[in-house]
Amino acid sequence: MTVLLSVEGLCKTFAGLVANNAISFTVAEAEIVGLIGPNGAGKTTLFNCLAGYHRPTAGRVRFAGRDITGLPPETIARQGIARTFQIVRVFQTMTAIENVMVGALLHCRQPSSAAALAREWLDFTGLAYRAAQPASALTVSEQKRLEVARALALHPRLILLDEIMAGLTPIEVREASDLVRRIRDLGIAVIIVEHVMEGIMPIADRILVLDYGEKIADAPPARVVRDPAVLSAYLGA
Ligand SMILES: Nc1ncnc2c1ncn2[C@@H]1O[C@H](COP(=O)(O)OP(=O)(O)O)[C@@H](O)[C@H]1O
Ligand SMILES: [Mg+2]
Repeated sequence: MTVLLSVEGLCKTFAGLVANNAISFTVAEAEIVGLIGPNGAGKTTLFNCLAGYHRPTAGRVRFAGRDITGLPPETIARQGIARTFQIVRVFQTMTAIENVMVGALLHCRQPSSAAALAREWLDFTGLAYRAAQPASALTVSEQKRLEVARALALHPRLILLDEIMAGLTPIEVREASDLVRRIRDLGIAVIIVEHVMEGIMPIADRILVLDYGEKIADAPPARVVRDPAVLSAYLGA
């Protein structure tokens, strides 16, 4: 397996609060990695550090053989890391297809080819029938999928998904898991933050567990669910 992302000793502090503490891990090409941990464990902060929204306080992030530590979000997006947000951030007054075109325009200048690409990703995420509607008309679960479509239109090699299954019905959770598998089948690596265990345990190759900013486990799902440190982080000692 070829290592795509390598994180070494990553730290992020906010005015004395240690949100990420010396976190190290790797992600291989086309691997699905679940990132779990109690609220406040530092999962979103880690995504923000990987995607360039936060500058790490210490540590290195290497992606596709390059040191990307501290680079701005646009540069990191161009190099192949795309993300969604825990709180959806679609452009509400733009149509669904226009939202996805924003992603596509990073690589293609022609609006007509950006629109064609956007249509393909709307199709891939099951939103083709919503193309012409304003994003504000979509349900929350559809808006989350729209963010995934916009991220995919950036043509990433790694996609960071932050709680895309929150608030979904069991059927929608299965559809979301299936979508993540199909993304991986395109050769894209996925790191997925999720509280919905039924959504990630069956599809993840590996699960990383954070607790109070520290990595406390990094193993296949079957092993992680039996790990005493993980159980006590979730259930209390
Ligand atoms: N921009 C910020 N400024 C100050 N503190 C922050 C900021 N972002 C996150 N934190 C703090 O860092 C910790 C980790 O937060 P977060 O990464 O959002 O956790 P998670 O996504 O695992 O729930 C929390 O204590 C949170 O309050
Ligand atoms: Mg979070």
